[in-house]
Amino acid sequence: AAAGIALAVNGQKRTVAGDPNRPLLYVLRNDLGLTGAKFGCGKGQCGACSVLMNNEAVRSCQVTLAQAAGKSITTLEGLGDIKTPHPVQAAFIAEQAAQCGYCANGMVMATVALLARTPEPSLDEAKQALAGNLCRCGTHRRILRAVMRASG
Ligand code: FES
Repeated sequence: AAAGIALAVNGQKRTVAGDPNRPLLYVLRNDLGLTGAKFGCGKGQCGACSVLMNNEAVRSCQVTLAQAAGKSITTLEGLGDIKTPHPVQAAFIAEQAAQCGYCANGMVMATVALLARTPEPSLDEAKQALAGNLCRCGTHRRILRAVMRASG
């Protein structure tokens, strides 16, 4: 068997064969069937593709499979689901913090990473943490309410 690249995804060891230079985003969506991370710009500018890599939010369109080797990746699916949502997901649902929802994955991931390092952020800290995540629907106020609801 061809050697693959091993990484941990949502707590499970996965081995992925094929071009090690392709983006982690494509590997997650196309090889592993995890579609929580979205393709937005493909250039590291929108945040829709965010995942956690060793607990830091990264843009998976800008990380190659080779760079993810041996790392621990958490996707939206690894946080929780409709029946047992992660507290951040629950807060986004409670605040109805999505219009089209395309940015929600990145907003949730950025919030999880923020609260891991700053459990009780100020509104300004929350704004700063999400500033690199684009929302074209203008849902920022509800998103920020969700961040504050999930904090502390
Ligand atoms: Fe990766 Fe936009 S799709 S940052």
